[in-house]
Amino acid sequence: MSVQSDIRRLTAPDIRARKGGEPVVALTSYHAHTARLADRFCDVLLVGDSLGMVMHGLESTVPVTLEMMILQGQAVVRGSRRALVVVDMPFGSYEESPQAAFRSAARIMKETGCGAVKLEGGVRMAETIRFLTERGIPVMGHVGLTPQAINTLGSFKAQGRDMAEWPLIEADARAVSEAGAFAVVVEAVAEPLGAKITEEIAAPTIGIGASARCDGQILVLEDMLGLSERTPKFVRRYADLGPFIAAAVEAYARDVRARAFPAPEQTYAMKQQKA
Ligand code: KIV
Repeated sequence: MSVQSDIRRLTAPDIRARKGGEPVVALTSYHAHTARLADRFCDVLLVGDSLGMVMHGLESTVPVTLEMMILQGQAVVRGSRRALVVVDMPFGSYEESPQAAFRSAARIMKETGCGAVKLEGGVRMAETIRFLTERGIPVMGHVGLTPQAINTLGSFKAQGRDMAEWPLIEADARAVSEAGAFAVVVEAVAEPLGAKITEEIAAPTIGIGASARCDGQILVLEDMLGLSERTPKFVRRYADLGPFIAAAVEAYARDVRARAFPAPEQTYAMKQQKA
């Protein structure tokens, strides 16, 4: 027996087919409730390992575990119906060997029901990307600034400011695309480099602090909503929800302290009146 839905979920090949066409709208999501809100407007919901920093207040994404990614991946799949859900492979779950990567990726796919995984790295990860895609696991690549490498990079600074660095970043993007990635995140690179990579590779590029000429864009949802404590310079804020939430919590605390909290039957009557 199969479970049918009136809405067809986008797949990795659907996103792959958008190269040079309608831009891909992508956002991060870590919860069922944000997934439900974003799903109507997004083609891709990425359960990014940025959740370690955004949700858990960690200093980097390095401590994020496979279990954390699977738990939030399950929530986002449950909360969405149309978008392709991509789950990040956390640091330490894939770098050792293509076989280790397959075991982690298969766990993510089986336990969350997501449609693809994402991993960081260029030339050095090409063999792994080919191994996974040939075995039924769609992979989104991630080049440019790769935050999981923070301990070797030293800081989250933009890549390719010096043109001498461009050939290495271009080679990374090309290797990932040729290995079979269905899309490639290009993070924090100089604008002309982001545009050049987009022209050069066959896979759609999904820019974040890269170039408006990428085949799509992604932002961390909490950054564009003004909920993150530290936001990269390139992020455009579409809302400033922090003060709204603080004001609502303050009003609630005031009511509780003043014992002005309505009884359940009053709340029910108020709702009935509104309806
Ligand atoms: O972890 C994440 O949220 C990401 C995006 C910033 C692309 O990798």
